[in-house]
Formats: sequence, C-alpha cells, structure tokens
Amino acid sequence: MEATVIGVVGAGQMGSGIAQVCAQHDYRVLLYDISEAAIQRGLSAISASLERLIKKGALTQQQKDTTLARITPIRELEALRAASVVIEAATEREQLKFELFERLDRLCPPETLLASNTSSISITAIAARTRRPEQVIGMHFFNPVPIMNLVEIVRGLRTSDATCATIDTLARRLGKTPVTVNDYPGFVSNRILMPMINEAIYALYEGVASAEAIDTVMKLGMNHPMGPLQLADFIGLDTCLAILEVLYAGLGDPKYRPCPLLRKMVAAGWFGRKTGRGFYEYS
Ligand code: CAA
Repeated sequence: MEATVIGVVGAGQMGSGIAQVCAQHDYRVLLYDISEAAIQRGLSAISASLERLIKKGALTQQQKDTTLARITPIRELEALRAASVVIEAATEREQLKFELFERLDRLCPPETLLASNTSSISITAIAARTRRPEQVIGMHFFNPVPIMNLVEIVRGLRTSDATCATIDTLARRLGKTPVTVNDYPGFVSNRILMPMINEAIYALYEGVASAEAIDTVMKLGMNHPMGPLQLADFIGLDTCLAILEVLYAGLGDPKYRPCPLLRKMVAAGWFGRKTGRGFYEYS
C-alpha cells in the first residue's frame, strides 16, 4: 500500500515536525489538533523551521510555500478518514492514546495503518484497543524531527510483517533511517537514554557537581551534542518523568526509579525549555 495522504494527530513539537517532514517529501498531510491555538503554534514552528532551511540555501521560497500548502489543518478527527497512514503524536499519556486509537479505529477504513510516535507506551496495549492490532505500529521520531535521522519502528506483539514493511518504506521515503525493535518499555532509545538522564539528575541532587559541570563533562568528555540536563530540558521534564514511570512500572526494577528532584521540578511546572525553566532558564 502506498501512503499518499498522511494524518498527523497532535501539532506539538513532535507532531509539527512529523507533518513538516512528510510535506517536504511530497505527502499530503492532514494535521489534527484539538485546539486552534495548538494548530497555529504548530504551523508557525513549521514555517520557522523551513525558514532556517531557506537561510542555509537548502530550500527555496517556492519550495517552502509548496510544503506549507501540502499541510491541511483539521479540527475534526473524522477528516482523518482520507489518510492511508495516521501517525499519532499526542501527549504522552496512556489513557489519552487508548481513547484516540479506539476512535481512529472506528472512523478509519479497515486498510488504514495506525502508527504512534509514543516514546515508551506499549504498542501492544494500544493495538489491543483496536480491531486491527496487525495494523498498529510504533513510529518513534526524534526531536528536532527535521534533522534527526532515526525512526525507531516498534513492532507490537501482533503487528504484521506487511505493516512493518510499509512503515519501513515510509520512513525511508521521509529520508530517515528506520531501525525496528520489539515492544518492551522504553523500546531501545529510552531504555538507554532515560537512565542516563536520570543518573545525571541524581548527580545534581546529591551535589556531585553543578548542572553546568555535569553537562560539560558529558559534552566534552563523551562528545554528546548536548549535556544530559540540557537534553532533558529540550525533551521536556514532564515527558522524561512520564517515560521513567513507564520504565519503572513496566520493568519493575528500582534502577529506573525517577529522581525525587525530577518529580519536584515537574510538580512545580518547570518542564524545561517549553515553560522557560528547567535545569536552566530560557528567555
Ligand atoms: N528545523 C530545521 N533545522 C534545524 C532545527 C529545526 N527545528 N533545529 C536545528 N536545525 C539545524 C540548524 O539549522 C543547524 O543546521 P546546519 O548545521 O546545517 O547549519 C543544525 O540543525 C544545528 O543547529 P544549531 O547550530 O542551531 O545548534 P546545535 O549545533 O547546537 O544543534 C541540535 C542543535 C541538532 C538540536 C543538537 O544539539 C543535537 O543534536 N542535540 C541532541 C538532540 C537529541 O538527542 N534529540 C533526541 C532527543 S530524544 C527524543 O526526541 C525522543 C524521545 O523519545 C525522548
């Protein structure tokens, strides 16, 4: 099956990036969000990202206009009936995703593939909420989506070979490198990344060093593009906590327990870059 129209659910950081990349690779995109303001923020982010590419000489104004014209904002989930693949990139909350997939399953034609950009929630459990578990799959992009090459394809227990093959092809057509993994908490990416971020937070909490020192050690000593605390701010501390909770509950091992400092910062509403304050302050 050829995916010509792609539905994207959620116009936030990840959803807008996914919509942009699909549109840049000639797909028509239906971009859904529940609020008009969220859609407008998403479209502005796409426009700003395309503008960066123009400044670098990697895109013309004409290509930017064509890319934007391929994206249709929608406020009714029902409009996603026209898509052959729907990629869900809503907030990282299990119940929300379960309900969305139940609705998508009811309204989309039987051949439509339903993908989730979840960073840790079980694809097998999401798929079980639908009548098409063979056609449900994880398609996990990385932030910033337009420049990160990886798509972690997550195979649920009942995902079919045909679905894996179609989504692998789609990821390649989007200029990404797909890597297929099995469905266990945090998959591969966050099972390895989040314990590192959590450990960096513990190091700060226990007074081993300042945030700047911890990040500098990891940047200069390990050649990471961002230090773990800076990266946590970039991902969102609320998202990091949600992923750690999934690892902790799903694997049952105390090594995944979220640092109390992370819990406290999230309780305070310090989510990182998106709220202007995390381990660092952002203007
Ligand atoms: N759109 C288009 N281009 C963008 C962009 C965007 N949103 N953001 C950055 N860029 C481009 C810049 O234009 C620049 O391009 P050139 O090198 O060709 O000039 C390049 O990316 C680098 O950007 P900057 O110079 O502004 O900044 P930088 O060198 O500090 O790089 C970064 C920024 C690419 C984000 C880099 O710091 C990085 O790779 N950080 C790590 C990101 C990471 O680990 N992401 C994964 C997070 S985990 C996740 O997403 C999933 C999960 O489940 C939690």
